Amino acid sequence: MATVISRMLFVFFIIISIPCISAVNNPKGFSTKLIHRNSPLSPYRNLQTDEEDNLFDDRALKSSLRRHAYLSAKQQNDQPNDFYGFEFPDGTGYIAVLSIGTPPMNVYPMLDTASDLFWIQCAPCVVCYEQRDPIYNRSASDSFIDLPCENSLCSELGPRGTGCNQEDKCTYNLLYVDGSRSSGFLGAEIINFTSFAVNAETFAPVVFGCGTENLNNVKGYKLDGVMGLGASNLSFFSQLVNDTERKFSYCFGNISNSTDQGELKIGENAFIFGDETPLEVSLGLYYVNLTGIGIGVGQPMLPINWASSFQKQPDGTGGVIIDSGSTLTHLEQEAYDTFKKAVLDELRINHNIYPVILGTYRECFAGRVASDLVGFPKVILYFEGLDNKLELDIWSTFQQLKSDSNGDQFYCLSFTASPNELNVIGNLAQQFHNIGYDLENNIISFHRMGCELI
Ligand SMILES: *[C@@H]1O[C@H](CO)[C@@H](O)[C@H](O)[C@H]1NC(C)=O
Ligand SMILES: *[C@@H]1O[C@H](CO)[C@@H](O)[C@H](O)[C@H]1NC(C)=O
Ligand SMILES: *[C@@H]1O[C@H](CO)[C@@H](O)[C@H](O)[C@H]1NC(C)=O
Ligand SMILES: *[C@@H]1O[C@H](CO)[C@@H](O)[C@H](O)[C@H]1NC(C)=O
Ligand SMILES: *[C@@H]1O[C@H](CO)[C@@H](O)[C@H](O)[C@H]1NC(C)=O
Ligand SMILES: *[C@@H]1O[C@H](CO)[C@@H](O)[C@H](O)[C@H]1NC(C)=O
Ligand SMILES: *[C@@H]1O[C@H](CO)[C@@H](O)[C@H](O)[C@H]1NC(C)=O
Repeated sequence: MATVISRMLFVFFIIISIPCISAVNNPKGFSTKLIHRNSPLSPYRNLQTDEEDNLFDDRALKSSLRRHAYLSAKQQNDQPNDFYGFEFPDGTGYIAVLSIGTPPMNVYPMLDTASDLFWIQCAPCVVCYEQRDPIYNRSASDSFIDLPCENSLCSELGPRGTGCNQEDKCTYNLLYVDGSRSSGFLGAEIINFTSFAVNAETFAPVVFGCGTENLNNVKGYKLDGVMGLGASNLSFFSQLVNDTERKFSYCFGNISNSTDQGELKIGENAFIFGDETPLEVSLGLYYVNLTGIGIGVGQPMLPINWASSFQKQPDGTGGVIIDSGSTLTHLEQEAYDTFKKAVLDELRINHNIYPVILGTYRECFAGRVASDLVGFPKVILYFEGLDNKLELDIWSTFQQLKSDSNGDQFYCLSFTASPNELNVIGNLAQQFHNIGYDLENNIISFHRMGCELI
């Protein structure tokens, strides 16, 4: 009975209007568990290939550089030839746990603050790739409907949409830099949210990309799909909020601890907490005003020229983006050189370090973060405003890499030089903080805390 009623409401609201539907069944907003790719709960666990295990391959660096290329293209043009520089980062990606359809089945899309569309593989497929869990089957769901072409969200696809096909379906086509792709058409479905913090069942209708032709060239992890948290009306986030509560927050927990869990909150219950700094949304990217970097609480900021290193230029290049999909933090070359020198000085003076060459861009050392870096000071990223900062402990400033075949351990700096003027704050730097995005007031909040507290 409940299903019949919700389906009727659902169809009604889809036809009338997509926005403003969230308050119908859930006045408190939506929460969903975020799990680490290597968590025991993750469908992607233990799917690593030998190649990805190879220390010298430095997947975190490679995927962060590809991600940087995507963000750089996007900052120049909201539609970077439909290319997404996107793939699973090395052991540091976050996936949301959702269920979709009636009866509900689980899907595990990757969180992405720099894209909009929520898409998943969608049977019956023309071509689908193998994924770990069964592929969502629209024919088997009582609540699936095609999105009519006249719905305003269809036009939001922009050049990524290919218009209406002969069957009056609103089609989309996404191409990723590595040759992966997802295409299909827009549909609407009931999404069921699974929260570990809030013991309540919440659901809402959401327009999504039903991917019927998919190709995944990523080695090892075959994503079920992507959950876009961008600012456009089409994004997963925007569809769940009304005009007075355009906000979401996430907390990543400890990326090095695969059993730690995070949480994503959308709408009224989003956690906008602590100190706030202005957030600028431009061409689908989230910009913040990073004003300086310090090593050690209360220590002076490093001599970095804010205007030339961190300021967004009039032509739209440069600036600082906060991103969920990049593992590493990229700093503009001059800022990176200053930062790297300060970190190396501190390491040389107070720690026994054994530098190793793993690649051209990263500073790496033989040893263990836990035992070798005890007492290494916090790295503080300061943002515009009185007391707005991200405080990076050793688990955020450095990344422990897997041991080699001899059992030797390595760790690397989780910062790297940017190939151009664009700075990107990656997800290692965001650990242990609640990050609150308030698009109503254009502010972002950072608050260091344990994610189990939200
Ligand atoms: C939007 O959210 C606010 C705050 O929860 C609520 O008071 C209002 O009724 C909602 N409006 C709509 C149209 O759902
Ligand atoms: C999808 O569901 C339909 C209806 O239950 C079923 O006939 C079909 O075999 C299913 N297809 C796949 C690929 O699971
Ligand atoms: C949400 O998921 C739970 C657990 O799988 C299920 O019992 C419930 O019926 C689902 N609710 C909706 C509206 O699909
Ligand atoms: C997004 O939706 C709002 C209504 O909620 C509408 O006023 C606005 O024009 C839409 N934006 C675009 C780009 O279509
Ligand atoms: C993060 O996880 C690692 C590995 O489990 C652990 O050694 C470390 O103490 C944790 N860091 C914090 C700050 O909790
Ligand atoms: C890892 O996270 C789990 C779950 O939050 C926690 O119980 C455990 O103590 C953590 N382990 C370490 C080494 O920090
Ligand atoms: C960024 O912060 C700096 C330092 O507080 C300030 O001078 C500048 O005006 C701010 N810029 C923007 C775009 O908010």
